[in-house]
Amino acid sequence: MTEAPGLNRRHLLGLEQLSRQEIDLILDTADSFREVIDRPIRKVPALRGRNIVNLFFESSTRTRISFELAEKQLSADSVNFTSSGSSVSKGETLLDTARNVESMKVDCVVVRHPASGASHFLADHLTQTTVINAGDGAHEHPTQGLLDIHTIRDRLGNVDGKRVVIVGDITHSRVARSDIWGLRTMGASVAVCGPPTMLPVDIESMGVDVFHNLEEAIKDADVINMLRIQLERQKGGLFPSLREYSRLFGLNAEKLKHAKPDAIVMHPGPINRGVELDASVADGDRSVILDQVTNGVAVRMAVLFLLLGGSDRDGD
Ligand code: NCD
Repeated sequence: MTEAPGLNRRHLLGLEQLSRQEIDLILDTADSFREVIDRPIRKVPALRGRNIVNLFFESSTRTRISFELAEKQLSADSVNFTSSGSSVSKGETLLDTARNVESMKVDCVVVRHPASGASHFLADHLTQTTVINAGDGAHEHPTQGLLDIHTIRDRLGNVDGKRVVIVGDITHSRVARSDIWGLRTMGASVAVCGPPTMLPVDIESMGVDVFHNLEEAIKDADVINMLRIQLERQKGGLFPSLREYSRLFGLNAEKLKHAKPDAIVMHPGPINRGVELDASVADGDRSVILDQVTNGVAVRMAVLFLLLGGSDRDGD
């Protein structure tokens, strides 16, 4: 695997813009990298000599570690930046930070930032560097969407025609938006479920069905994707108490009986156990949560390889 077929684009900013062919290409490439990460020596030379900086202005465990592992397993040279302890605390802007990083001859920045649109902004202003969005505010988290779609395809054989219900704080979830755009492009039918205060008023315009009752929402689902309440993005007061939320929208073994017997349960992490997911479901045999995490490494290897692996990079 030395010649990258390429994505014919320089950046990965979201799943809203990706075609079915592009998503298929990423998933197929991720399948090959799944084999690489199951080998005793998990390393290929595909990105030897490429410099990648992971620019994280927000907390992260899975996304940051898996991007770093993906970069190392592709033999790229990668550097991690976290805003705490950096010159951001001295008042340096996002753009100045990124321009300085670009000046050090960096091929790619992987950016997580609390502002929606931050990675689009950098893609508009950086002239040499590929930008990969690792989560921009409540907007998109494209590699999470891709690893979710990959996990569904892997477990259920196909995404087309499957019914996926996403439960929780849809308004503040970048995972929900990337999942909805990506899954609908791949032919899945998508429903969202949550308290009305956590669903955007115009959510139907994204082509999803809307439920406010969990038992009803999961009845016909092949996939149940449970989300964390994004307290850090809320102004508060969207539900009376966590106990109340959990009683109505938390998934436990009892409520899971309303779903199809072979429905799978997903969660992007981090889980707030006892709030959106009961431990018996999170750790139960229907949960594919840790598979999602493993697939995340393969999917991020695929994205990096397809964007950076070619000998020339004259995409858009
Ligand atoms: C998600 C995120 O940061 O958007 N986590 C992740 O990347 N796996 C979801 C969340 O924080 O709830």
